[in-house]
Amino acid sequence: MTYREAYARLSEIGETQLLRFYDTLDEKDRASLLDQISRTDFSYLNAFHERNRETKRGAITPIPAMTLSEIRKRRMDFRKTGFDAIRSGKLAAVLLAGGMGTRLGITGPKGAFNIGITRDVFIFQRLIENLLRVVEAANTWIHLFIMTSERNDAETRAFLAEHRYFGYDKDHIHFFTQSMAPAVDENGHVLLETPSRIAVSPNGNGGWFLSMADAGYVDLLHTLGVTFLNVFAVDNVLQSIADPTFLGAVIETGSACGSKVVRKADPDEKVGVMCLEDGKPSVVEYIEMTDAMRTERRADGSLAYGFGVILNYMFRVADLEKVMHEQMPVHFAHKKIPYVGEDGQTIRPDMENGWKFEYFILDMVHELPGCLPFEVEREREFAPVKNREGTDSVESARKLLALNGIAL
Ligand code: UTP
Repeated sequence: MTYREAYARLSEIGETQLLRFYDTLDEKDRASLLDQISRTDFSYLNAFHERNRETKRGAITPIPAMTLSEIRKRRMDFRKTGFDAIRSGKLAAVLLAGGMGTRLGITGPKGAFNIGITRDVFIFQRLIENLLRVVEAANTWIHLFIMTSERNDAETRAFLAEHRYFGYDKDHIHFFTQSMAPAVDENGHVLLETPSRIAVSPNGNGGWFLSMADAGYVDLLHTLGVTFLNVFAVDNVLQSIADPTFLGAVIETGSACGSKVVRKADPDEKVGVMCLEDGKPSVVEYIEMTDAMRTERRADGSLAYGFGVILNYMFRVADLEKVMHEQMPVHFAHKKIPYVGEDGQTIRPDMENGWKFEYFILDMVHELPGCLPFEVEREREFAPVKNREGTDSVESARKLLALNGIAL
């Protein structure tokens, strides 16, 4: 892209300010800025300008979950079906590791975080150890796709290579990077991080399938005969991956997708819960729930909206392909975004100064015709590492790891 072309493009959207340092840049930086402008998706700005338009949610109703007791009864059948599918190569796993881990206060990949006390226990190591259990039981490798972002891709690859993929077969690991979105100031103008670089951040965990397709991996799935994808978050150190019982349940119930869920500890626990919205699977956030919804109970006394999502989904590739180009809602996160001052130096603000744009995987679930909420035992499968201290922290995850007999 030439300067003229960039200027014309930015004029249309009122963002020529992104070229305000252009005259001061050397040839290399000029080329890099023009290249970034040509690659940046500025359509996120439209969503920001329309953010105050009222978005009304559909009619929310409870969704029945498959509970632990039912799963226990049908476990042998589910496991057999799941293992058969795994042994015939139908399942691959997708690790979403493109996030920034800002709450944890780290700069590198979250998976490289060491949660050990007397020995090294890296988050990636924990995940791979869990996946290896299934690989060993099935006696077959499972393809593992890892989504990184521009910000942590090189470090993630180097870290895993240095640790020899924690015993995983590297020919069954495939990396791809997610798309980035520009960040804006309080008025919706795109920020520069340095004189020659637009401030961008990973565009959320909802765009993973499109990014996978862009990398050519959806074609690879077809070649390999993979029809199911187990997608999961990087930060749950008890994450059960490629769980044959879960896969078998999705297959046997003919569900379009499955979502692992945990039972809410009490009506006021602050988690997003699975529900139906206009008859389609959806997630209602804690703040969106009315008192009546929070406390509503079924005939058996359990909470009607009582199952929280833990970001572990089972998808069918064919269904994902049908919905991948549907426009998903853009979410806005108020964040501290480094930006360039008029002297050309980057400023790291102490307070939120702008907005980042994100797509959420739960909106993708809403595009599908159905979803099986599949209950799992919280203490056995859910130990998220989001914060340094308190809820969902290094501290709470360590306790849960110890409870599960994992030496730290
Ligand atoms: P979180 O929503 O916890 O975000 O991600 P985060 O970036 O890891 O952490 P904070 O909010 O900055 O503290 C949930 C899962 O989605 C992935 C994360 O890597 C994690 O597995 N994710 C999130 C992405 O892959 N890409 C994104 O853009 C955001």
